[in-house]
Amino acid sequence: MENIPGHVGIIMDGNGRWAESRGKSRSYGHKKGSDNVDRIVTHAFGAGVKTLSLFAFSSENWARPKEEVDELMRLLERYFKKFIGKVLKNGVKLSVMGDISVLSDSLKEVIERGMSDSAGMTSHVLNIGVNYGGRQEIVRAVNKLVSEGREITEKGISENLYTAEFGEPDLIIRTGGEYRLSNFMLYQAAYSELYFTDVLWPDFNEEQFDMALLSYAGRKRRFGKI
Ligand code: IPE
Ligand code: IPE
Ligand code: MG
Repeated sequence: MENIPGHVGIIMDGNGRWAESRGKSRSYGHKKGSDNVDRIVTHAFGAGVKTLSLFAFSSENWARPKEEVDELMRLLERYFKKFIGKVLKNGVKLSVMGDISVLSDSLKEVIERGMSDSAGMTSHVLNIGVNYGGRQEIVRAVNKLVSEGREITEKGISENLYTAEFGEPDLIIRTGGEYRLSNFMLYQAAYSELYFTDVLWPDFNEEQFDMALLSYAGRKRRFGKI
């Protein structure tokens, strides 16, 4: 396929509804959703995508029932542990965007280890949003500039976002049938192409990812020009 987006963001939505429609607990849906991540990561990198930004847990998701939040944290820890074991084999650099300071010590530890173990990897970037909110990210960047006594500029803000090193998504995919960004990469999404699908995240497979790539390949990005 031609015109593969270098950086793809995915809002992985629909785990809860996927489970509820089967008479199962929402947590079961999150387990299925989490099991789906590596299938899509492997496929996307194989297709030529360099950077993937995945929205795993938003700064607003804390408002869910404790049991569900606990399960999501458990699954994240399991995911990062698995990632650490594979670092040398897959050459992927891990980045985590969001305020991780409030996470449990054990989750923080696997995240920090995943990032430091993979810091030298250059083939791909896997960027995961954990306790991430786009507004919080912008405020954080502006505060950094202020604390350094620097002028607030677009360049300055970009340089202080979690994505400073690898930039803005060319394409943002949202699964699960909602047509909104829900606080995902607000600053970076200014000129991202958007792709929405009703497919719920646990059902989102390689074929559906290719449909998003195909849609992207046919887009004309104008960036305000003609
Ligand atoms: C996405 O699935 C995962 C997270 C937001 C953590 P949801 O849990 O939002 O699933 P739905 O949207 O309720 O179906
Ligand atoms: C967005 O999904 C967050 C993640 C996918 C992690 P939500 O399910 O939280 O979004 P809303 O509440 O439907 O906007
Ligand atoms: Mg949702």
